[in-house]
Amino acid sequence: MLGRALLSTSLGLLSVGAVSASTLSWNATEYLFVFGDSYTTDGYNISAGIDSPDPGYTSSNGLNWVEFLSGTYNQTDITTFDLASGGATIDAALVPPYLPTVLSVVDQVSQFSEYLASKPADAEWDSTNSLFAIWIGINDVGNSEGWTNITRPDFYSTLMDRLFSQVDTLYASGARSFLFLTVPPTNRAPLFIEQGPTAAATMGDNIADYNAQLTARVRNLTTYYASDLGSVTLFDTQPVFNTLLDNAETFGFVNSTGYCAAYENGTPTPTYQVEGCAPVSNYFWLNTLHPLFTVHNILAKAITTALAGYPATQIAV
Ligand SMILES: *[C@@H]1O[C@H](CO)[C@@H](O)[C@H](O)[C@H]1NC(C)=O
Ligand SMILES: *[C@@H]1O[C@H](CO)[C@@H](O)[C@H](O)[C@H]1NC(C)=O
Ligand SMILES: *[C@@H]1O[C@H](CO)[C@@H](O)[C@H](O)[C@H]1NC(C)=O
Ligand SMILES: *[C@@H]1O[C@H](CO)[C@@H](O)[C@H](O)[C@H]1NC(C)=O
Ligand SMILES: *[C@@H]1O[C@H](CO)[C@@H](O)[C@H](O)[C@H]1NC(C)=O
Ligand SMILES: *[C@@H]1O[C@H](CO)[C@@H](O)[C@H](O)[C@H]1NC(C)=O
Repeated sequence: MLGRALLSTSLGLLSVGAVSASTLSWNATEYLFVFGDSYTTDGYNISAGIDSPDPGYTSSNGLNWVEFLSGTYNQTDITTFDLASGGATIDAALVPPYLPTVLSVVDQVSQFSEYLASKPADAEWDSTNSLFAIWIGINDVGNSEGWTNITRPDFYSTLMDRLFSQVDTLYASGARSFLFLTVPPTNRAPLFIEQGPTAAATMGDNIADYNAQLTARVRNLTTYYASDLGSVTLFDTQPVFNTLLDNAETFGFVNSTGYCAAYENGTPTPTYQVEGCAPVSNYFWLNTLHPLFTVHNILAKAITTALAGYPATQIAV
């Protein structure tokens, strides 16, 4: 504990010294590069051309956190490259995704290297105005949950080695400011609730272990690259999800454990309603695994609070 207190004190001093040189504040962010899974993708396909449109294919039945971040809670005109892919894991060779066509974070970082690292026309980013956001792990933990051929702390450590090798690749291309998000309590999603309280509790423990390892690696990143980094934010999604789920009625969510099957593949309008269910916008879960845009909105707001330098549920790094 003492070591950590000393570390954060010295990092605090460091960041004061680095302010003018490299600290990226939210109000100066002009480029956002995003890596992740279905919680994060908007269907953008950079292989179809760097200028191909954001088709808005999200898992939230509306905008997702990236779109709220860059289009609602933005203080600047942000150019976003969302390379996320639905179903993504860190590396398909470590945790296979549900379909072989899914692009892992390793694949997404390869796309970054191929299309964006050279700072081409329409993506003339630089180290001081660009934020690299990574939200991954939901499917790494989820897809490997039933495996008996791994020892969990060790396997998650292998996952972290792979993830942070990708962060090193981004760093080598000039990335200096990072946003990491922890895995949310997907053990409270209908998909895992259905497997019974014991399985769900085990998964909650596994997510906590994954997140603890993520935290240690992000701290290592800030120590290792030290004053050469811009801003590094580790945002904890757990308190946001848990507070909303624990107080669902207060926040106007009609059901914290279930969803309405009629809506699970998306609805024609954001407030669509069928007989026997509340309007789709009043649910927390759209389907077995994905929260609605209302949740993404609250999450994005809290993330920008952290990025703007104010207390939110970020974990000190
Ligand atoms: C931008 O944000 C930083 C803190 O992140 C703050 O110090 C600065 O005053 C802000 N600039 C403007 C123009 O509001
Ligand atoms: C992305 O675009 C490329 C090139 O047009 C195409 O081959 C690929 O199938 C597309 N990927 C998806 C997921 O639509
Ligand atoms: C935020 O992004 C939206 C969508 O790109 C843009 O219309 C708006 O001007 C931006 N806000 C600011 C303050 O730049
Ligand atoms: C564990 O089993 C899964 C499912 O069969 C497989 O995909 C994975 O590669 C195995 N992992 C190890 C480390 O053996
Ligand atoms: C810390 O990060 C550096 C750079 O990614 C890496 O080489 C090193 O192995 C990491 N150390 C630990 C203990 O994770
Ligand atoms: C919430 O969803 C669960 C699981 O589908 C269901 O059993 C329960 O009746 C629902 N509760 C309400 C208030 O709709």
